[in-house]
Amino acid sequence: VEEFVVLVTRLKGQFTNSLRVKELILSFIDEIGVDPREYIFDVPRIRVVPNYDYLHAGVSYAYKPHRDTWYGSVDCQINTWMPVHTIRPDQTMMINAGYFDVPVKNTSSEWSLNDWINNQRHKAKDNLKEEVRVHPVPLEAINTASEVRIAGNTGEMLIFSGSHLHGTVANHTEQTRFSVDFRLMHLDDLKHKRGAINVDSACPDVGAGFKDYFHAHDFSNFQGIEA
Ligand SMILES: [Fe+2]
Repeated sequence: VEEFVVLVTRLKGQFTNSLRVKELILSFIDEIGVDPREYIFDVPRIRVVPNYDYLHAGVSYAYKPHRDTWYGSVDCQINTWMPVHTIRPDQTMMINAGYFDVPVKNTSSEWSLNDWINNQRHKAKDNLKEEVRVHPVPLEAINTASEVRIAGNTGEMLIFSGSHLHGTVANHTEQTRFSVDFRLMHLDDLKHKRGAINVDSACPDVGAGFKDYFHAHDFSNFQGIEA
């Protein structure tokens, strides 16, 4: 596990900071036919999810059901998610679509994105058994009746509101799941505070991650929305 964590930490760092990946995000925006000047994106991530019993903390944290807004994302955030290799429903991620406009009691009010960025995120590699970093989590049982699991083929992409309740499906297979995700925001949505309905998110420092965002057309750093 120690060796695995070293390799995955290096992979994630290289992937997230690579120019090639930013160019691919721009290609995707071009391909769907929208204007890249109107969009910013958050740094892309690669997830490596081995068998649950091997590792489900730290670099391979298995996300409990959450909305990205609990983690300080804005209401207009558009999430993308793409398996690298063709996967099955028991290796994918889940979306609890029925909770889109149904509140869930959660700990987001006690969670800080600033603290996460400055003090917690880099500790991923130290979590080899249990996740000791604090995440925003549900405080009630989640009804799975509306749970959707879409198992894509290589290069197929899910696109969904960051406000949907979603999480990691525990991988009990012997095949490690690799997936890629990134987030898009339309500048006008941000400016006019448009987005999904906020039914239960109380993260105190929404937008603290803006400094990690890039303009899609030239990869310049996003400096925030002028008042
Ligand atoms: Fe998420």
